[in-house]
Amino acid sequence: MCGIVGYIGGEPAAPLLLDGLEKLEYRGYDSAGIAVFDDGAIKIVKAKGKLSVLKNLVAGRELTGCIGIGHTRWATHGEPSVPNAHPHFNASRTIAVVHNGIIENYTEMRKYLSEKGYRFISDTDTEVVAHLLDYYYSKTNDPKEAISRMLTRIEGSYALGMLFADFPDTVFAARKDSPLAIGLGTGCNFIASDAPAIIKHTRDVIYIGNREIAEIKKDSVEVFNLDLEPLKKEAVRIEWDVEAAEKNGFEHFMLKEIYEQPAAIKNTVYPRISGSEINLDESGLSDDDFSRFKKIYVVACGSAYHAGVVGKYVIEKLARIPVETDLASEFRYRDPIYEKDALCVVISQSGETADTLAALREAKKHGVFTLGIVNVVGSSIAREADGVIYTHAGPEISVATTKAYSAQLAVTYLLALKLARLRGTLDDKEYRDYVDELKTLHEKAAQLLGDNEDIQRYAAGKAGERDIFFIGRGIDYAAALEGSLKLKEISYIHSEAYAAGELKHGTISLIEKNTLVISLATQPDLFEKMKSNSEEVACRGADVFMITQAEAQADEKADFSVSIPDVLPAFSASLSVIPLQLFAYYVCLTKGLDVDKPRNLAKSVTVE
Ligand code: F6R
Repeated sequence: MCGIVGYIGGEPAAPLLLDGLEKLEYRGYDSAGIAVFDDGAIKIVKAKGKLSVLKNLVAGRELTGCIGIGHTRWATHGEPSVPNAHPHFNASRTIAVVHNGIIENYTEMRKYLSEKGYRFISDTDTEVVAHLLDYYYSKTNDPKEAISRMLTRIEGSYALGMLFADFPDTVFAARKDSPLAIGLGTGCNFIASDAPAIIKHTRDVIYIGNREIAEIKKDSVEVFNLDLEPLKKEAVRIEWDVEAAEKNGFEHFMLKEIYEQPAAIKNTVYPRISGSEINLDESGLSDDDFSRFKKIYVVACGSAYHAGVVGKYVIEKLARIPVETDLASEFRYRDPIYEKDALCVVISQSGETADTLAALREAKKHGVFTLGIVNVVGSSIAREADGVIYTHAGPEISVATTKAYSAQLAVTYLLALKLARLRGTLDDKEYRDYVDELKTLHEKAAQLLGDNEDIQRYAAGKAGERDIFFIGRGIDYAAALEGSLKLKEISYIHSEAYAAGELKHGTISLIEKNTLVISLATQPDLFEKMKSNSEEVACRGADVFMITQAEAQADEKADFSVSIPDVLPAFSASLSVIPLQLFAYYVCLTKGLDVDKPRNLAKSVTVE
């Protein structure tokens, strides 16, 4: 939710911290701050609002120190304000803390500390960390000991960066259930919530585990467990390059990422296909394992959940295995019936989503094999799942997901085909046709991206809409869910997605003259039904934007239509989603809103 960075080395820290925070702004952007060792003391500068406000403040200060920590916030406890912005100090301003996550027992800790005379100046949960550190440091005079004791008192999720005035050559860090990477430089080291913040300085990172403590100096990194026993850590090399995390001439990350979808699909599909065979050995599952599953749960949040809904249709159609999809926030608390021989697939771009992680743990606790479909290498879900299949979408910066969603769809197709092959639910020809389709899907996605001026013009004319409805049947319904989410999250236009057959059971009463209904009709066997549903709303005054599969099928009554290239219907969501993403993007652009950082949202939802 929030982004943290830290630097220790030979250069002034402030510009490096601000640059790193800029790369993490997608994680939260309601306030920001930095703490730097300067002239023998820790100096903090904080500002409410986007990072640019902090940058202006820092520009007016002479901060030359070479060690510091920084934070960009997505408020959970306390409104966005300067007192609530991080870093937070202890009373004597000798300990500074930045935090991503939630301290769940902060009320109890606040009471405990207040009784000991500590005074709080913010509404945040984080301030208890600063005061707990102060409390234990005053008893032990040892920062690691103080951190270890503090960690045993706090509950919840956290990635923490900490400075102690008495140790001006060290940045301390710790984490539990929130991401934190330590970047290894030459004569310098870094901490960051996510690799884009440090990739231009180093590609070698160490991921520390839950409740581990890192002591970072400019030439060394040591990691300890809670008993302060040293731990051995292997560095991991980040393979993608700096450009992947830059805009590369596109006006927004979202547009760049929409255009990266063909590559994301290809990079995800190709390494797993040789000839016509699909190899998912990396998942930790053998063919025998895959063959034993009689039931699949797919659990995720938001767009990743929508990818799972598409996956349900595709797996059930191709492999004939019952699939239950669940929102992770529901699954984790609803006490599901865990069946023997079930597989639990959790889908997550970030690999850090709190609800998805908790759902995964629930499934594991009940003895169900968990398989993560994850984009971020080394993330919590990737580490904790029994098996993982990585989506090779590259770093996704825009808060609204596009290319990661497309790569998630591609993995669900691979999974469906693998299961179908093993279960013999497709004959040889059908199976090969699907594999061939999968191999060319990226080219068809690229065709759709060729010329989008019509969509751009059409979207510009719809920026004033109040409500927009999406309808579809089967896989089109699953794609409609994603199209609707994309639109509302960045354009702030109210939007709903309905199974087209459901419309007349209530919702159709909302259709009035010129209400826009986006009708997805890419499934040949359901086309006539969709045509009727579109006409039902059109004759009640709605404007209809239709997405169809073949040009010939476009309904002449539609006000606007886009035809996707011919594709096997099971994989159509990978194509139909593209005009929907573009539509959302251009509506948002016309409204002059912040495309990459929509209000109230954050990229990585590490709180429940
Ligand atoms: C919407 C969006 C979110 C995420 C959801 C899950 O554009 O990005 O709905 O899909 O927060 O995030 P991950 O995939 O990181 O678990």
